Amino acid sequence: MKNTVFVLLLVAAMGCSSSGPETTEAPPAAKSEPVPEPLKTIPETEIGLAPGTAFEQPPQPPIKFNRIDPGEGEIQARPNAEFPPVIPHSVEDFGPITMTENPCLDCHSTDVAEDMGAVVVPASHRMDLRNAPGVVGDTVTGARFVCTSCHVEMTD
Ligand code: HEC
Ligand code: HEC
Repeated sequence: MKNTVFVLLLVAAMGCSSSGPETTEAPPAAKSEPVPEPLKTIPETEIGLAPGTAFEQPPQPPIKFNRIDPGEGEIQARPNAEFPPVIPHSVEDFGPITMTENPCLDCHSTDVAEDMGAVVVPASHRMDLRNAPGVVGDTVTGARFVCTSCHVEMTD
């Protein structure tokens, strides 16, 4: 065994000294590498799936926001339980959500939802996952305060 290793090392050393760096280091694959094809231009009409060019904007029908008052909307089915449900009623008359005011909570907070006939904000919205996971309070945590960053109003 030892002898074999020695012979192999010797052969390797001889190989290096006799052939020199030029021949051993030249990559043999270089010769057979495929020549790259010249770049082709893709016509605009072939970019994307829409007909016409990528720069044409086909006219879009205007979105009709719903005018359904809260209390008259219908709870919509969700694709799955993790999905934020769509807002089935109009939100047009409720002012913006600010640091101090949240019109959504006038109906959806734990203390009034039942009286208003609205769905109460779920426990997941009243838990501070970062600082107190598992503790469900009465108020909505900061991460859930801007309701419309997850819930969208239903349109036609
Ligand atoms: C005047 C009371 C009222 C206000 C204000 C209000 N809602 Fe509602 N909301 C309701 C009622 C009542 C329902 C039950 C469906 C219905 O009757 O329209 C509902 C349903 C929902 C639902 C559907 C819940 C589910 O289980 O599918 C979501 C989501 C929702 N509201 C979000 C909001 C958001 C976000 C705002 C603020 C932009 C808001 N609501 C403001 C009363 C209100
Ligand atoms: C970070 C995203 C996010 C924000 C912000 C958020 N929600 Fe939700 N909401 C969800 C998801 C996801 C669900 C469904 C899973 C669950 O119940 O936690 C949900 C569920 C609900 C439901 C249905 C509860 C039920 O029992 O069926 C209501 C009502 C609701 N949210 C109201 C609100 C209101 C009001 C606000 C603002 C104060 C708000 N949400 C903010 C993601 C969000």
